[in-house]
Amino acid sequence: MKKIFILIFFNLLFADSMIKPIPEKIKYDRQKAKLGMYLFTDPRLSKDKKISCMSCHKPSEGWADKRKVSIGVFGRKGRVNSPTVLNAVFNFRQFWNGRAQDLKEQVFGPLHSNFEMDMDKKEVEKTVNTIGVYKKLFKKIYHTDYITADMIADAIAEFEKSLITPDCKFDLYLKGKAKLTPLEMKGKILFKSYGCITCHNGVNIGGNSFQKMGLIISYKNCIDDRYEITHNPADRCVYKVPTLRNIALTAPYFHDGSAETLKEAIKKMGYYNLGIELKSDEINAIEAFLKTFTGKQPDLGKFR
Ligand code: HEC
Ligand code: HEC
Repeated sequence: MKKIFILIFFNLLFADSMIKPIPEKIKYDRQKAKLGMYLFTDPRLSKDKKISCMSCHKPSEGWADKRKVSIGVFGRKGRVNSPTVLNAVFNFRQFWNGRAQDLKEQVFGPLHSNFEMDMDKKEVEKTVNTIGVYKKLFKKIYHTDYITADMIADAIAEFEKSLITPDCKFDLYLKGKAKLTPLEMKGKILFKSYGCITCHNGVNIGGNSFQKMGLIISYKNCIDDRYEITHNPADRCVYKVPTLRNIALTAPYFHDGSAETLKEAIKKMGYYNLGIELKSDEINAIEAFLKTFTGKQPDLGKFR
């Protein structure tokens, strides 16, 4: 009997160590980040001059978009749900199917996409080079008279690095600075014992591997999956495991935005990826646990 308790105890310790708190601070160039913030919020970088990065990554919606799919220039509807850019710096790849290696490489995805901002590199360069404030700021920071696409991506990526959310309740718990309620604790134990943690782990509680949507029960809507990139049949319906940080703020869920609430997303994960029917009290507990991942939101006032 004693042995079993010891085993369970070590198992729980192990489960905790599979999730790491995010750093309270991260290194980035403040001047570049501030410039990146201007670019991130500037609709002049889009074809119809109405859409900025922030149109689909809204601070009030967890830096994601509560619409099922985002609306880009000229009211064009996108194909997949907008993920949060909070803590994206900790993802091992960017996009649902991981087609960009890092934040800097990611920037020209949305700028270029006809569903999003619909500008090619030359058009973006041309536009930014005609705006006086940018001429001045880039000259000061990048020591240049001609602003290149590469510098624009660099500044935006630098801004995104600043969008981290430290000190969520669970991180504080991991550091011994907060206690979980009995319901949150029950959720934590289920998250581990059912195996959610085998895919959602690490610093970003996700964002560090590619996994199948529909591992046990196959999923139907597999648009823009990893297969599109690798053409390997094993990659059908495979996506980057999304981060669960701030998950309570970023409904709807999944690449296709098909789960409207967090409860529905938890239920579907249990069904498709674990082959179990979670009971409603289990869903409540897991939801309470996932809510402990909401961290301190970035304050853009720091760039003033
Ligand atoms: C029209 C809506 C829209 C606009 C505008 C937009 N995005 Fe996105 N963003 C999305 C969608 C949708 C995805 C997911 C696309 C995919 O994975 O195929 C995404 C993905 C991302 C990701 C990857 C996050 C992750 O976890 O993989 C980052 C980073 C990002 N966008 C930053 C930006 C930046 C920077 C801009 C401006 C240059 C921008 N977005 C403009 C909708 C938008
Ligand atoms: C086999 C790996 C795997 C397991 C196990 C797993 N997930 Fe997931 N999870 C994923 C993948 C991959 C996605 C993205 C699926 C998609 O968008 O189609 C995801 C998406 C999610 C989302 C939505 C995230 C978003 O931003 O849209 C939530 C919430 C979630 N999982 C919670 C859980 C919970 C709770 C469990 C345990 C009951 C669990 N997951 C088990 C791989 C897994």
